[in-house]
Amino acid sequence: MSNAPLDYLKWYYESNVWKRLHYRGVRTLKLPLDLWNYQELMFENDIHWVLETGTRHGGSALFFADILAAGAREGSVVSIDITHEALDPLAATHPRIRLLLGDSADPAIAGSIRQLIPQGRSHGLLLILDSDHSAPHVLRELNTLVPLLRQGDYVVVEDTVVNGHPVRPDFGPGPLEAIEAYLAANPRQLVADVERESKFGCTFAFRGYYKVAAVC
Ligand SMILES: C[S@@+](CC[C@H](N)C(=O)[O-])C[C@H]1O[C@@H](n2cnc3c(N)ncnc32)[C@H](O)[C@@H]1O
Repeated sequence: MSNAPLDYLKWYYESNVWKRLHYRGVRTLKLPLDLWNYQELMFENDIHWVLETGTRHGGSALFFADILAAGAREGSVVSIDITHEALDPLAATHPRIRLLLGDSADPAIAGSIRQLIPQGRSHGLLLILDSDHSAPHVLRELNTLVPLLRQGDYVVVEDTVVNGHPVRPDFGPGPLEAIEAYLAANPRQLVADVERESKFGCTFAFRGYYKVAAVC
């Protein structure tokens, strides 16, 4: 029997439609169903700040920044990448986007983030990991960035679908293996939001949506 949402996910990924998705004319390497999830969860969880790893063209940063502006949120998107070679000017000049150049898993990046996101903030933060998808890098990102979070914040680990879950079986250990290792080493910190990730039938962040339950 066919599993229609999973078949759709495989078709969308394997036919590279995700590489041709645009938001306001800027390439955005996402599944549209996840973008709608992000929009919904940002309002449900009082998200005023977004910390993104992997800027690329800036499409997702632009999307998050527009949501923050439309909701008159107090904060910004802080987006980290090792290069700005593909960055679109629309994202580069958006007043709600702060760009950091560097390795998103480098413990030194935490200091730069703290200068842009107030430690005494009174609203929630969405951390979204979408940079180097190898398991060691994602695990290092989680170890570096989750300690900046607090109860009520939200974490999304993107592209857990690689390494055969169900696409790119050749990938090797990726984001899913990383979050599983992080959860095993840090029980009770993050609570899976299975209802959210299941809402539209499929996601690029399979077992990748979490609410921060405990102060790190
Ligand atoms: C999948 S793209 C990001 C896509 C973007 N978030 C979007 O949805 O349109 C991954 C990005 O991660 C960046 N990257 C790779 N290794 C990195 C690292 N160690 N630290 C920060 N960014 C990295 C790449 O340069 C690339 O631009």
